Amino acid sequence: MRILLTIVLQVAVLTGLLAQADLNQNTWSREKMSLNGKWKVIVDPYDNGSYSYRLDRFDEMSRSPRSAFYMDAKVKDKTDRLEYDFDTAESLMVPGSWNMQNDKYYWYEGSMWYRRLFSYEKKEEGNRVFVRFEGANYHTHVYLNGKKLGQHVGGFTPFEFDATDVLREGDNSLVVVINNMRHREGVPTVNTDWFNYGGLTRDVFVYEVPQKHISDYKIQLNKDNPKEIAVEIATEGMTTGDVVALSIPELRIKQSLKVDAQGKVTTSLKVKKMTYWSPQTPKLYTVVLQAGEDKVSDKIGFRTIAVDGSKILLNGEQVFLKGISIHEENPIRGDRAFSMDDARTMLGWAKELGCNFVRLAHYPHNENIVRLADEMGMLVWEENPVYWTIAWDNEETYKNAENQLAEVMTRDKNRASVIIWSMANETPPGEARDAFLKRLVSFTRSNDDTRLISMAMEKRKDKKNKKIMIVDDPFAEYVDLLSFNEYIGWYTGKPEDCDKIQWKIMYDKPVIVSEFGGGALAGFHGDEQTQWTEEFQAAIYREQVKMLSKIPQWAGATPWILTDFRSPRRPLGGIQDGYNRKGLISETGDKKKAFFILQSFYNNKK
Ligand code: GCU
Repeated sequence: MRILLTIVLQVAVLTGLLAQADLNQNTWSREKMSLNGKWKVIVDPYDNGSYSYRLDRFDEMSRSPRSAFYMDAKVKDKTDRLEYDFDTAESLMVPGSWNMQNDKYYWYEGSMWYRRLFSYEKKEEGNRVFVRFEGANYHTHVYLNGKKLGQHVGGFTPFEFDATDVLREGDNSLVVVINNMRHREGVPTVNTDWFNYGGLTRDVFVYEVPQKHISDYKIQLNKDNPKEIAVEIATEGMTTGDVVALSIPELRIKQSLKVDAQGKVTTSLKVKKMTYWSPQTPKLYTVVLQAGEDKVSDKIGFRTIAVDGSKILLNGEQVFLKGISIHEENPIRGDRAFSMDDARTMLGWAKELGCNFVRLAHYPHNENIVRLADEMGMLVWEENPVYWTIAWDNEETYKNAENQLAEVMTRDKNRASVIIWSMANETPPGEARDAFLKRLVSFTRSNDDTRLISMAMEKRKDKKNKKIMIVDDPFAEYVDLLSFNEYIGWYTGKPEDCDKIQWKIMYDKPVIVSEFGGGALAGFHGDEQTQWTEEFQAAIYREQVKMLSKIPQWAGATPWILTDFRSPRRPLGGIQDGYNRKGLISETGDKKKAFFILQSFYNNKK
């Protein structure tokens, strides 16, 4: 039986639609009740609230109800003993990390309990109600009215639970415990060059769907035929003979599609004339799906992305990716970015820089920035947080990495702006690493063959001649784009050394330099030899773009990084003060000289 089940599952996954993650598609356009705002919190460094909560395992929490905060228990009689009370606890704003809302939590890594009371009236008796979290860092357990809804591991991807059977008419108590401790087997692992913001860092909301509803769909241009739109739809509660109505009014498409016994539809739509999505013309078509009482609409751009030798082809035409790397941090607000306003700030700066491309490092960012990229015509690289020295031999670690990738791929499968899935960043070559990443690549390809795969690799110096840099990571064979990070002029040599460097790229693939750059304190000026001056950083950018222009396969770059960002690895007093200073813009929004060097290069680059 088990073998049969495995075969069936693999077949299902090959259709590319099987909900790689247990998430309804496009809650973005569904009517929702936001749970953002003030939540009561109890800090719990000894996990007193969950008793046997094990921080290093993803198992269920077993506990004696007496001590478990998830019960949100109340004293009923003067003889009752209770050693916690959410009603009298302090509050934190959601979305937002706990680190940035109260100095006593700045460095806190541990468990935090959150409680939100809400009342909810179902629109239709038979509907199903979901509680959805757009992201929570890092290990989260969710309870509603004292009953466990489920748990989630991973700090940067959405998750949701069916709350139908536990929801009460009137007041409900939603209790969430989040632990942001770093783990050797985690994804990412214990060592990162970014701040470990903990908590409910993105939107939380409740929404409902009819018993018969559209649970997933992928409506994208057929990668081999730009005159055809490939359609895959999955439904819940529907079976043979039920119909899904699909319409794309601007393309005069209106179809009644019969689902199969599994409630699925796979078809294609011939299109004579359409405007393809691109940075110059970010055309989005309204797509409406209706199944019984359920109606969901989306705004979808249709485009193809491919590689041909060392060229990247967008809608069949060569494109140079004028990019920049971005962390999910609004430097002005000084916390995790989560909102559309944050997205407008970050992508507005990228646009001003002359970019047509952003690398959302080093983990999936929130859905707002991806939706805005669709609207603005900004191409996007999304990245799995397989960062540096991951526990390659650990099966749990692999499953965790695959699940986080599945969740972002499920959420963004209809986003035209997303052209690259990045498997990892700067991982040391080795047998275990290659095996781990090969699994991730084949998982990605089997779930989405319409986008390119890459990962930020490393370069090495030629043993005999230090002026020769070689990119020959064996993993380059498995990706579509050859991407690597290099810091000539900062970590290796001086800016003027760029001129002497010769690059040996051992593969005929498009080359994306996924990181280059150097640090500067905004407002600190001096000569081009003095570290941390804006002039020194500007010299790095000037010399880097000259050097990289000599690489024949050079197809794009995402220099490190748009804005200064918080990192515990950067303590240099008076200069870093807990910030990584490689930003082209400071945390106060001041543009450094290097911003204008890169802007001029991009504006003149064909
Ligand atoms: C690495 C890494 C980044 C890091 C950067 C730096 O390449 O990918 O996450 O911040 O270098 O050292 O600033």
